Amino acid sequence: MATVLAFDVYGTLIDTHGVVAELEARLSGDKADLALEFSRRWRDKQLEYSFRRGLMGAYVDFSECTRAALEFTDRAQQTGLSEADKDHLMGTYARLPAFAEVSQALKRFGEAGITCVAFSNGSREAVEGLLDQADIRDRFSEVVSAEEVKRFKPDPAVYAHLRSRLDVEPGDTWLVSSNAFDVIGARHAGLHAAWIRRSLDAPFDPWGIEPDLTVADLDALADRLI
Ligand code: 2OP
Repeated sequence: MATVLAFDVYGTLIDTHGVVAELEARLSGDKADLALEFSRRWRDKQLEYSFRRGLMGAYVDFSECTRAALEFTDRAQQTGLSEADKDHLMGTYARLPAFAEVSQALKRFGEAGITCVAFSNGSREAVEGLLDQADIRDRFSEVVSAEEVKRFKPDPAVYAHLRSRLDVEPGDTWLVSSNAFDVIGARHAGLHAAWIRRSLDAPFDPWGIEPDLTVADLDALADRLI
């Protein structure tokens, strides 16, 4: 049985596309049809900015990657969002919802005596805020943020930091993530990893580094691990 489960936050516990309704309300006319595409591009660009900043050794708070990615997406899609719209969308991003099964599945892990921690590129403050508003903060013994080492996953230093914070052996630590880059990063750093394949048509990166487990959601993970 797993000793510690370290849950990625954005995309794994929290639905990053929970901004789509707000985007639809703010994109005028036929641009409103672009809301989901906008949301996906925003997310992809946010991750790209964090990776690039990692390579450059130019760390900033993850929310700065999010804000710059929002600006970029607005320019790229010529959606003409106002500053007030962007501020509002950033506020929405700070209150994104959890996926439907998350709270109950985390309860099952807790009842089985499995230690759960939240482990994110987001700042501690941002992650604490998201978990609080989703009413799942008390399911986690710790929040471990990449900001504590000023690097971003998948830098091995961030996974090493997780291990030193938890004081557990790599073989007793599982990363749980819907993000393939994170799963590969964790496996590369010697951790076990479960890939939450939230979208059935999502391919896994063909790098020859595979997840230990692939499941559709956290309930299915609980079925496998408890
Ligand atoms: C995380 O929460 C960015 O999804 C990533 O660390």
